[in-house]
Amino acid sequence: MRPRITDTTLRDAHQSLWATRMRTEDMIPVLEKIDQVGYYSLEMWGGATFDVCIRYLNEAPWDRIRIIKKYVKRTPLQMLLRGQNLVGYANYPDDVAMAFVDKAAETGIDIFRVFDALNDVRNLEVPMQAVKKTGKHLQACVVYTLSPVHTNEHYLETALRLQDLGADSICIKDMAGMISPYQAYELVKLFKEKLTVPVQLHTHYIGGMAIGACLKAVEAGVDAFDACSGPLAFGSSQPPVETLVRALQGTPWDTGLDIPLLFEISNYWEEVRRKRGYERGVTRITDMKVFDHQVPGGMISNLVSQLEEQNALHRINEVLEEIPKVRAELGYPPLVTPTSQIVGIQAVLNVLTGSRYKMTTQEVKKYVKGYYGRPPAPIAKDIQKMIIGDEEPITCRPADLLENRFEKMKEEIRDLAESEEDYLTYALFPAVARKFFEYRKKVRDGEIGQQQLTEEKQETAKPAAQTGGGSKAVSSRPSRRVPQSSMEDGTMDIEDIKDLIKMLDQTTVNEVQVETAGIKVAIRKGITGGQLSETPVNTAAAPAAATEKAAATEKEDKAEELPANLVEVTAPMVGTFYRAPSPDSPPFVEVGSTVKKGDTLCIIEAMKLMNEIEAECDGKIVDILVENAQPVEYGQVLFLIAPAE
Ligand code: CO
Repeated sequence: MRPRITDTTLRDAHQSLWATRMRTEDMIPVLEKIDQVGYYSLEMWGGATFDVCIRYLNEAPWDRIRIIKKYVKRTPLQMLLRGQNLVGYANYPDDVAMAFVDKAAETGIDIFRVFDALNDVRNLEVPMQAVKKTGKHLQACVVYTLSPVHTNEHYLETALRLQDLGADSICIKDMAGMISPYQAYELVKLFKEKLTVPVQLHTHYIGGMAIGACLKAVEAGVDAFDACSGPLAFGSSQPPVETLVRALQGTPWDTGLDIPLLFEISNYWEEVRRKRGYERGVTRITDMKVFDHQVPGGMISNLVSQLEEQNALHRINEVLEEIPKVRAELGYPPLVTPTSQIVGIQAVLNVLTGSRYKMTTQEVKKYVKGYYGRPPAPIAKDIQKMIIGDEEPITCRPADLLENRFEKMKEEIRDLAESEEDYLTYALFPAVARKFFEYRKKVRDGEIGQQQLTEEKQETAKPAAQTGGGSKAVSSRPSRRVPQSSMEDGTMDIEDIKDLIKMLDQTTVNEVQVETAGIKVAIRKGITGGQLSETPVNTAAAPAAATEKAAATEKEDKAEELPANLVEVTAPMVGTFYRAPSPDSPPFVEVGSTVKKGDTLCIIEAMKLMNEIEAECDGKIVDILVENAQPVEYGQVLFLIAPAE
């Protein structure tokens, strides 16, 4: 039987290697040729593409479907839908999910590939129903990872449930390139025996297993697999289609695809790659060691960025050792957006603070409380208690707690929205969408000329500073890092977060999840209001001065007169010190305040997260050694507390 191939060049490949910056105009010249190949489908929408279109490229994401459809007449168009997260990073209410899927189908999507990071089928129910209603092809994913609970039985059980829910095909989604050729063979064989629907394999090249995995999957009878054009293949992307087609030539599984045509297409992409200055996919030693540390390649680049920011890059190996521990304690979540960030940042905090789970993020709390769904294995009880105390986790489908709000959101953007599509764009990314609509209006009113438009596009469309050593992608705005996308990802910047905070104040929503620098951040009403710094935390120059100053203050003014048993509260990380939850609110504590163990003393913004620093004993604040909004160094003394007797 001839396996079919999905070409991911227009979505996952450039999301993995070019930070999702391929533009529609780069696609158009080659679309008719691609349509001639005879692919099973073209993955060309969803994942991070929607977000990046409006945030960085000033492109209307819905137009992209229509334009591609105009040139691609025979090959089905496919999108990646992140379950209840749609094309965003947090659960959306059911009415938004239904309307989004409806509109995508109407605009031209033929195949919906749907996944949930935790394989929690409840998170897929509504999006899957929505796809079924449109009559389009519903492909449901089983997310692949390595852990004691991720056995072939677990995958089969998940796949059978998805089939029962109406999946027209099942995709094994190996976002971290961890499926080995022989595992692929076993799993595909099992699925082919037990499922009645077709089976597809999606994998990433990363550590170099992907070609072998696809070939063995083919031997086991896989119906389709994913590949992409050579210039966008390898590294954290998909395996090259040219190689796979060639490898299968003359075998019973010959794909019959036209190799010279495939190379005509590769030549085109190679030209685009050079013209735009994008890197090729490469495999590093840490990528090949993925089976030891189990951290996907894209996630390592993010960890490196975060540790660099903390002047703690030398601790990367400790973090890589910590991650599997945290993952085990949290019930073995597969490391894919958003769980990769949740686990990664907690591991960083555990290592940097030198005390495990002393500091936890809002995301970890929400995760443990069940707001992302059910973890694959139970969370370690002692760890759960450290993170959420005696609070009981929710047991319902997380989106059941979200009220429908599409109609309300439509009201908010009546002034700028021009279509149902615009309403949906706004419902998904309110702050970014408003900016995008305003921009569009200015262009139309002639306030921004085409010249300016082009310039701005050129500037924002460039994804990666091509630095010598690593493959870290940095966007044109200085404070933002673009995550590499084996994590299927995107980012927000500080301005967007400020917009969000403003927006929150006008709604009844108390908290939203956003993503910045590859980290999920929970923004709560009032907590961060207005005090996010304009610039990234400066770890180079300022902290040294601050440390000196603090040290001087400590010595000259205080040392002699203070009792000897003072407790020092030190900064657990490099960051910016804030005395109050927002500029308008009073400081958490003043000199002379009485505090109880566990009271919040200040916030340190680090790694784009607001970390609350708590008192570790009862007592009285006798000194505050850092000015508000000043950078602090790791280990710098922030407060002196005279402990209660
Ligand atoms: Co992928």
